[in-house]
Amino acid sequence: MSRFILGFETSCDETACALVTREGVVAANDVASQVDLHARFGGVVPEVASRRHLEAVLPLLETMFRREGVTWDDIESIAVTRGPGLIGCLLMGVETAKALAWTHDKPLVPVHHLEGHLYALQMTPAGSGAFHLLAGEGRRSTVLPPAARDRRDPAPDLYLAPEFPHVGLVVSGGHTSLVFAESPTRYQTLAVTLDDAVGEAYDKVARLLELGYPGGPVVDRLAAQGRADRFELTPPLMRRDRPEFSFSGLKTQVARLVEDLRGGNGGETSKNTAETTAGDPENEPWIPDLCASFQAAVIESLLTKALRATEERGVRDLTIVGGVACNRGLRAAAEAATARRPVRVWFPHPSLCTDNAAMIAGLAWHLPALAPEDALALNPDASLPFSG
Ligand code: KG4
Ligand code: ZN
Repeated sequence: MSRFILGFETSCDETACALVTREGVVAANDVASQVDLHARFGGVVPEVASRRHLEAVLPLLETMFRREGVTWDDIESIAVTRGPGLIGCLLMGVETAKALAWTHDKPLVPVHHLEGHLYALQMTPAGSGAFHLLAGEGRRSTVLPPAARDRRDPAPDLYLAPEFPHVGLVVSGGHTSLVFAESPTRYQTLAVTLDDAVGEAYDKVARLLELGYPGGPVVDRLAAQGRADRFELTPPLMRRDRPEFSFSGLKTQVARLVEDLRGGNGGETSKNTAETTAGDPENEPWIPDLCASFQAAVIESLLTKALRATEERGVRDLTIVGGVACNRGLRAAAEAATARRPVRVWFPHPSLCTDNAAMIAGLAWHLPALAPEDALALNPDASLPFSG
């Protein structure tokens, strides 16, 4: 009996495949990260990424099948990210999925990458200690979606999921989108970024500070050790009539400060002695404070706009998803914000925040499938719009 949807995700720099049951339980969630490959460039190089997807995807699938004792008979259909994302990367996933659908005579389900991210909170993450996070009334608790009931702890308040409609905020390396989610397959876009995505801003700031790639986790860690009031950074577009996001100005503010702090010469002096000084908080003790100031400005922008949207739309649930939703400062600030407002803020388990194929396979159960012969005509779409 077919038990799983098999999902593929290759829209950026993670090659991923996953097995998900009809109830949204993640049975396997395998990710081959390309972080090391792109680290020396300080960001994803699209051509390098797509080549690596091609090399990585089938071995990843074979390893997952072997480990899980799964065969093609266990697979009901195949899901794949159709867009948005880097076109060469999407192409690798889509062509692989098409070939497998044809060869094994399985229906194929194209999935919107960001709708997948937003679906993560309806899924049961893999692992017995894996829960989502819910912030409400100034406190945080761990939750699983109602479909997971009976599988684990029977406590009734454990089984909760955001109600539709709600407001969703997708924050990742490639995207910053605020949406009104009417159902898992119907969205209205409320705001996007006018320039850099928020994760991209983290990565660029980390690069300026010579902290390595990806920048989000390290800036987050250093921010926790710094003082946010040491440097004044202005979050952009904070007026109520400007719902859009913008992060490139904030990055420029950081660049100017770094230049001043390193001696007013664009950091060249410290670069000359970079082996021993630059990027090391021991030698540049202002780094944690600058990270804290940057992170505070980012969080203020994200949360103010997202919470305003919940008020304006009259909904009580806000979901924050994507790689940047792992940010500890953001989670803490959201929790604090719920003490003052009748709002619940939801964050997926980290394994379903950063790019993964489980979210793609999970959402696919709700979407129409293409017959294998029709699937051959499927093309990726780098700027696929939300389903409206
Ligand atoms: O969702 P994701 O894995 O890939 C994209 O679709 O882009 O997100 C990756 C992004 C990177 O820019 C990374 O720096 C950021 O998420 N990120 C974080 C944190 N962990 C990952 N940003 C801020 N704080 C974090 N803790
Ligand atoms: Zn993503």
